[in-house]
Amino acid sequence: MIRSGGVFYHLRALRFENALWSGHQSSVASFLDAWNPKSKDLTLIGPSAGYSLPTVFLKRFETVYAYEPDPWARMIFERIHGVRPVWKKSGFRFLGADPIEQLPKDGSAVLFCNVLGQIEIPSTHRLKKSLETHLKDREWASFHDALSGYEIDFDLEDARPEKALLPKMKEWIYVRSPRSGSIEVNAHHAPDLFEGTSGNYRYWQWRITPRQTHLIEGVFRGA
Ligand SMILES: C[S@@+](CC[C@H](N)C(=O)[O-])C[C@H]1O[C@@H](n2cnc3c(N)ncnc32)[C@H](O)[C@@H]1O
Repeated sequence: MIRSGGVFYHLRALRFENALWSGHQSSVASFLDAWNPKSKDLTLIGPSAGYSLPTVFLKRFETVYAYEPDPWARMIFERIHGVRPVWKKSGFRFLGADPIEQLPKDGSAVLFCNVLGQIEIPSTHRLKKSLETHLKDREWASFHDALSGYEIDFDLEDARPEKALLPKMKEWIYVRSPRSGSIEVNAHHAPDLFEGTSGNYRYWQWRITPRQTHLIEGVFRGA
């Protein structure tokens, strides 16, 4: 169901986190600072070991709930952050007609951690409707893959704190070696989930390996 995660993802983190991921981690930190949820509790969906998340942010909350099916991720998360979430070990059920309905109505702020661009879903339309229905009175945020590819960067000079559509995102692609022939760029479905959704948007790039770069879309809304 998921295209990344598991042991492979932790090995990648071991290899590249210090060398390459700090720009992404700082962008996530300023995105979360801007979101600044007031709820006393936080629900994370798909945090892995929390490689992208700042400890100081997690420690603001009385209780952290987290949906994460990977046991390695859960163990490493607690070691890195010194925070012990209430784990929902079976993960979040994204299949079904109204998946967001399963979120307990406990008032916690909800953070989708780079998971919406990764999971396979049967219908973008249904998930979008479900998100709109169940998050409308809630503080929520998501950061997720928008585009990804090899030997590219994203030139984000004209990115604004508003929703960017696919043609605009494509304009941001910067090919590192234009003479190397054609390039392949993947468009992920997560940005479609938020088309027409008012919120605060941020864009940054995550050089995940020396060759592979992701454009990340962050969106948040207060209650
Ligand atoms: C690409 S990784 C996310 C990376 C992580 N958020 C980060 O920024 O380092 C996707 C994560 O989603 C988790 N995942 C997969 N299916 C899930 C589900 N149904 N519910 C919750 N998490 C899930 C995977 O175990 C993996 O840790």
